[in-house]
Amino acid sequence: MKRRSFVAGLGALSSSLWLPSLGRAQAPLAADPFGLGIASGRPMPESVVLWTRLMAGQHADRLGPPVEVDWAVAEDEAMNRVVQSGKATAEGRWAHSVHVDVGGLSPGRPYWYRFTAAGKQSPVGRTRTAPALADRPDVLRFSVASCQQYEQGFYTAWRHMAAEDLNAVLFVGDYIYETSWGRDLVRRHEAGRTMTLDDYRNRYALYKSDRDLRAAHAAHPWIVTWDDHEVVNDYADDLSPTDPDRDPFLAIRAAAYQAFWEHMPLPNSMQPKGPALRLYDHYRFGELAELFTIDDRQYRSHNACHAERIQNRMLVDCAERLDPGRTMLGAEQEAWFASGMARASARWNLVAQQTLMAELDRGNGEKRAYWADGWDGYPTARRRLLDAVAASPTRNTLVLGGDVHSFWATDLKQDFADPKAPTVATEFVGGSITSQGPPGSRLPPLMARNPHIRAAVSDVNGYGLVTLDRQKAIVAFRTIGDVRDLKTGISTDRQFAVEAGRPGAQPA
Ligand SMILES: [Fe+2]
Repeated sequence: MKRRSFVAGLGALSSSLWLPSLGRAQAPLAADPFGLGIASGRPMPESVVLWTRLMAGQHADRLGPPVEVDWAVAEDEAMNRVVQSGKATAEGRWAHSVHVDVGGLSPGRPYWYRFTAAGKQSPVGRTRTAPALADRPDVLRFSVASCQQYEQGFYTAWRHMAAEDLNAVLFVGDYIYETSWGRDLVRRHEAGRTMTLDDYRNRYALYKSDRDLRAAHAAHPWIVTWDDHEVVNDYADDLSPTDPDRDPFLAIRAAAYQAFWEHMPLPNSMQPKGPALRLYDHYRFGELAELFTIDDRQYRSHNACHAERIQNRMLVDCAERLDPGRTMLGAEQEAWFASGMARASARWNLVAQQTLMAELDRGNGEKRAYWADGWDGYPTARRRLLDAVAASPTRNTLVLGGDVHSFWATDLKQDFADPKAPTVATEFVGGSITSQGPPGSRLPPLMARNPHIRAAVSDVNGYGLVTLDRQKAIVAFRTIGDVRDLKTGISTDRQFAVEAGRPGAQPA
């Protein structure tokens, strides 16, 4: 009940649908400087990151004078028992975004926070620290969300997620889309492809104009990684399928990475440097779970067999695909992941990453076909990652992904070609918040061809809900009724259990 009243209160505080103001004279601060919302993220046992971005009049994206912002963290929703407070400076060169690394907090408990700028108060947000490293929490809950093309539906899934009881939201990519696409659009970007820093900033501002998205940010700490559309579709390191020259593309990537950092609850230590932002990260939730967030975009090898020039990027008979030199994470991140897995000591390992990890042969008859942009374009890198998972002293690994705009449950194997190969980890892909996926009718033949795929659900939107205890993980596919209906409800489409010590999804 407490949670529900908090979420309802949040709606009252930001009741009007906020839209970017156009054509007004420039003022130091907009009438509602917190119109882009507030957020928290990167929950550690004693720290969280608080975020906001001030709307500084019409030209929030332009250089303007710095604005001083007060912040406070309290033990109660009424903000009476303040335990930490301070000042931050919102600078025009970072789009007047504010990133506060708050330390000195107590582990495993909720906190509430608020910003004040120019005499105006933000709504109160709620966050939650991770349990202490040696704690043994009874239960942990995470949502897995991705892919929120603004034009293809309303963010009702976020409103329902705001009301869930979560330790954190795991967002695994496609927070914005750089272009317009899809059918039966409910609203428009009203602008073309994002290329410049201003373009990307305005796209984030547009997406955050949705009150349900702001409510989900204000209700839970978020742990974020990205996929391709935060920059451009199907890019691989410094190669973009739509921008033939490397240096202009790296300038686009630098603008996109900067805007991503400016709009996410990421720490100051992750501030980008040109086209580089170290995003991969490690978390621990007491003795129950460790979490690895992965970046499979920034360092990956280029497409095999020049797939960026092929329609649909399908690889058939491409020997280069199997080159052991190909990488998805880059050498440094790969070594970091392997050593983290080797040292893992909690009950569960969670790996939050971009896309479907299981092999998915999409061919016909004798002819095998693999999608170049996913893990199937990098099978030797996938094998090394799964070798590291198999070698971990923690036998219980869940791989959580997005990108494919549908829900999946799969058994991950070191050798997908061998039907007798043991399952070393269990994979769940958590659908899409709004983005349109493949027709559901395409999935049964794919399942028949790929027996390690345990479930595949399309034509619905929503998110995954992961509940962990020492004995088992329960993963629910939470789906909304209609992405085009602002009043739509949510339900559990289906649910799976993974028993500790026994990798693989069982219907539950
Ligand atoms: Fe997507």
